[in-house]
Amino acid sequence: MQKLIIDGGLPLNGETVIQTAKNAALPIIAACILTDEPVTIENCPHLNDIDAMLNIMRHLGCTAEFFGDNLTVCCRDVALNVINSDLTGKLRSSIFILGSILSRCRRAYISHPGGCEIGLRPIDLHISGLKGLSVKIVDDCGVICCDGTDMKSGVINLDFASVGATENLMMAGALLDGETVIVNAAREPEIVDLAEFINAMGGDVRGAGGSVISIRGVKKLHGSAYTPMPDRICAGTVLAAVNATGGSVTVKNVVPDHIFGITERLKKAGARLSVRGNAVRITADARPRPIHKLETNVYPAFPTDMQPQFCAMLARASGSSVIVENLFENRFGYTSELVKMGASITVKDRIAVVNGVSSLHGATLKACDLRGGAALVIAALAAEGRSVVYGVEHIDRGYECIERTFAELGGAIHRAEV
Ligand code: UD1
Repeated sequence: MQKLIIDGGLPLNGETVIQTAKNAALPIIAACILTDEPVTIENCPHLNDIDAMLNIMRHLGCTAEFFGDNLTVCCRDVALNVINSDLTGKLRSSIFILGSILSRCRRAYISHPGGCEIGLRPIDLHISGLKGLSVKIVDDCGVICCDGTDMKSGVINLDFASVGATENLMMAGALLDGETVIVNAAREPEIVDLAEFINAMGGDVRGAGGSVISIRGVKKLHGSAYTPMPDRICAGTVLAAVNATGGSVTVKNVVPDHIFGITERLKKAGARLSVRGNAVRITADARPRPIHKLETNVYPAFPTDMQPQFCAMLARASGSSVIVENLFENRFGYTSELVKMGASITVKDRIAVVNGVSSLHGATLKACDLRGGAALVIAALAAEGRSVVYGVEHIDRGYECIERTFAELGGAIHRAEV
């Protein structure tokens, strides 16, 4: 077990290069099952969630090995082992693997991934979508048993534009005869990245990034080398941190369009931003300004995965902000930790009212989920005095060595054993 020790109050300055996206790499790794040839995922981030997905792949008989930052996955043989709850419990998005196993093997057995800290996270849309492709699915004491012997392509209308369900169905359709169409598909950039990866393996996916995606199944996919997109949430996390602490930082390896929903809100919160190619520069020389109403929603709106980091930033704002969380029902758990630092935040259901205070003070804190953990780091960097953040394993799920990123920008932050 490890902790982060943070002496706050220093501005952040310099430049940083953003890692490739966890939420793009995870479905791309799952999609490797679609081919029996080796795939190289270049610049794959080293994260706990990636390790958890690779353990599932190895459990199915695939090989997966890092050579430096490049990950090589080979799914020559795929064994139909039950993916039990020890494995699915480590990674909620383990369910994303169902579509690719079914497409390749026509059967799959996976334990229910269960809920998590930020909400119930049901999988009904994944299940009903696969049923729409004629997969027979029964729940056998918590193990989802899928029989895709009679699987065929079709038109799936999603009741909600779920990211994971869209990705699962794209993979499910990749090797099916005929055309699978997803209506009301999610439009997140990670969906486009997955489509480009499937196409790089010889697939035929069209329309990703829009709300109707067409997948024409091909007989066989081949190996490929692919670099996932930059992580828009990691970029947003650094930008929010700079607006919280003050300073001036250039964030490199970003797709500015992907983070437009974030940068527009940062401007409202008083930051100055400029874009040059794939770099964004932020300068913040005063306390953040409040945001009258900050509401999360599906892309291209403000992402739920940035809500906690913005809340931490707004805790020091020169006025009151209202944050509305529309995606997950329980995503304000981290706010009680911010209150320990002197923040004034009231939560009712899915709404948080943040009354900015002139300064936060250091405290002993516990991260209970990934983005909530990042919010604690931001608050601690901006606070007066020392904070100790426990539960670092949650942060390591999505940030490759978060302390190095902020230390290189001038933050006083280091990791230690508990
Ligand atoms: C993905 C991201 C996650 C992000 C989320 C929303 C990955 C690995 N994770 O998660 O970081 O927070 O998108 O942008 O890419 N829902 C149902 N039934 C379902 C599926 C989802 O009701 O079958 C609900 C969820 O409970 C939630 C909402 O739909 O309220 C959004 O979920 P979804 O878009 O599926 O998120 P994930 O793919 O799980």
